[in-house]
Amino acid sequence: MKLRHPPQVLLYTPLLVVGLLYQLIQLHLTTGTCISLPLPSPIQCLRTDENGDGLDCTVESYQRVWQDRKLCRVARAVYPRTEAQLIEAVASASRTGSRIKVVSGGSHSLNKLVCPGGENNFLISTRYYDSLIHIELTSRTVTAHSGVMLRKLLDYVAEFNLSLPHTPYWQGVSVGGAISTGSHGSGAWGRGSSLHDHVVGMRLVLPALQQEGYAKVVELTDGQEDLDAARLSLGVLGVISTVTFQLEPIFKRSVSLELRDDEGLEDEISEFAKAHEFSSLNWYPGTRKVLYKIEDRVDATTEGEGTFRHAMVEKLSLEEIENMRNSLELMERTENEDGLCEMEGMTIRARLEHGDGFLNDGLTFTGYPVVGYSHNMQTSGGCEEASSPVTPTGIDLNIFSDGTSDCEGGMSNTIESATTNTVCTCFWNPDLNTSMLFHDVAIAVPISRAKDAVLEIKKLRDLRQKTMCRLGVLGGLFMRFQAKSKAYLGEADDSVTFEFCQYKKREANIPKLQQDFFEEIEQMLLVKFGGKPHWGKNRILAFDDMHRRVRAMEKFLQVRERLDPFRLFSNEWTDAILGDGSIPRSAQILQDHCAFEGLCICREDSHCHPGRGFFCRPGYVFNEARVCRHEASTV
Ligand SMILES: Cc1cc2nc3c(=O)[nH]c(=O)nc-3n(C[C@H](O)[C@H](O)[C@H](O)COP(=O)(O)OP(=O)(O)OC[C@H]3O[C@@H](n4cnc5c(N)ncnc54)[C@H](O)[C@@H]3O)c2cc1C
Ligand SMILES: *[C@@H]1O[C@H](CO)[C@@H](O)[C@H](O)[C@H]1NC(C)=O
Repeated sequence: MKLRHPPQVLLYTPLLVVGLLYQLIQLHLTTGTCISLPLPSPIQCLRTDENGDGLDCTVESYQRVWQDRKLCRVARAVYPRTEAQLIEAVASASRTGSRIKVVSGGSHSLNKLVCPGGENNFLISTRYYDSLIHIELTSRTVTAHSGVMLRKLLDYVAEFNLSLPHTPYWQGVSVGGAISTGSHGSGAWGRGSSLHDHVVGMRLVLPALQQEGYAKVVELTDGQEDLDAARLSLGVLGVISTVTFQLEPIFKRSVSLELRDDEGLEDEISEFAKAHEFSSLNWYPGTRKVLYKIEDRVDATTEGEGTFRHAMVEKLSLEEIENMRNSLELMERTENEDGLCEMEGMTIRARLEHGDGFLNDGLTFTGYPVVGYSHNMQTSGGCEEASSPVTPTGIDLNIFSDGTSDCEGGMSNTIESATTNTVCTCFWNPDLNTSMLFHDVAIAVPISRAKDAVLEIKKLRDLRQKTMCRLGVLGGLFMRFQAKSKAYLGEADDSVTFEFCQYKKREANIPKLQQDFFEEIEQMLLVKFGGKPHWGKNRILAFDDMHRRVRAMEKFLQVRERLDPFRLFSNEWTDAILGDGSIPRSAQILQDHCAFEGLCICREDSHCHPGRGFFCRPGYVFNEARVCRHEASTV
């Protein structure tokens, strides 16, 4: 019997699921309702006390595992709803000298920023701290509790014909959490695309002396030095109670996608950033293509009710999630790089032809340009939305109980609806054993050095072009722009962030095929081009010597010394990445196989995996790089 398809075609079929992810969106709009499986709370506690505080808890990231794969234990978790309760929480921690940290309802950062240090420590959740949103029409500002979710804020200000011009692409973040790691959209004009650079005021709750009642509130306004520390603080200064953002009159965006060859990309980048206010691009080095996202401001009266809905943050059915995961697992193992390149080409065409998540009338894509209100054209989500009540101590995992929710409206919370509808959730929902984990490498390089960075990556690509197609399945190299920041921990120059995602195994220490190529790119951007890792993303190895990578570390540390002299808001991780005074510290964890997990840059073979044939070797193009390469690998 002859096979109907040659084997590699069989291999492509599941890969197609990933490649055509961007078409899912169309699919979704026609499939109607699904039963939403809620995301679990990042805080899990064994007990609660009479005030509803959680006792004997753990705090996890949204993917569940931290980068170091170790648990974070918390003695007490509190859930303030008012500023008075927030102050009380800080006072009770500072009275006993306990370490304290703040986490949002979603805990979307991958390193241990939210893990309080020491023992008998406190965690403040802002999950329920979201009742205030106040607009000041004369100054065009909005003041919100730090736990307010981005989508809620965006929709609220739009009702007043106002707009927050730049926001990160995921609507499930809290405003306090988004600014505290330097989250951004794309665009280098004016204040730039970092949310924290649109902050003009803040109320901060600080630990204080006994005679001050152990906690106090300070009010910071634009122009004050302390605000330039607090606007991007990793939560180490105190608890942000409210944030005030500068708004603009409401406007629309006009978006077109354009596909070009990557020849000349190095010369086009900085011009492109200057030419379009919200520009960004996806570079696919393996197939030598660039997808330029040409995105400009147009007047609010321009016709168009367009929206952007990123397929990856839509509600996905459990079946779709499982298919994607299986495809990614397969892709990890495949040595068929021709197949991967073919997939990359198909993905790019699908993105271009299907609008890449942009929908002209909010429902379908009919052609470029897509015009719509700015707040509907950048930030998206939906998979996180669930009407289920969430208890402070965790979540009811029985999705068919009262906690059942529907998506897109319309279905009642009954068992019949469960049997007639699919179950859906976010692809990372850690309660699924098919959820997907990722490493996220996001490194900001000064725009003035972008040309050299692109040329260097091209040199590596030219050594083994097809290997680069491994990047394509997860979106290629995504490039977004930021302006020089006001924040002491922000970008010192106008910058371009190079970002790529890599599938991460649930099990530790599993090598990735050709991982050396991607380690080399990561180290080039960090070491050769002095790149700044995103504080809320990136693997542990990236956070070396942060003093050299941000605008004014020394000034930041001086402010911390004044606002939190006993470092109640610091922990092992922030001590490692911020250093102590002028001594830069390394965050790297040197141990067997550490380079496989992104915990270190290898220095010796044991940091890779000699038993599996991986040895620590210099980079091919950037010779200073140290990467784990398989002994059979050659160029
Ligand atoms: C699907 C997805 C898409 C994303 N897209 C983007 C993007 O487009 N651009 C981008 O830049 N980033 C993006 N991110 C990263 C994300 O914006 C950051 O990780 C962000 O910090 C998460 O916010 P959070 O509310 O979950 O905060 P958490 O992870 O809970 O906390 C982050 C930090 O803020 C501190 N913090 C939180 N609240 C307070 C407070 N009230 N007072 C003091 N400190 C506080 C915490 O202590 C911690 O240090 C994305 C993440 C995901 C999961
Ligand atoms: C917003 O603008 C629209 C269109 O110009 C107008 O009809 C509406 O009254 C405005 N709303 C507010 C709250 O100003």
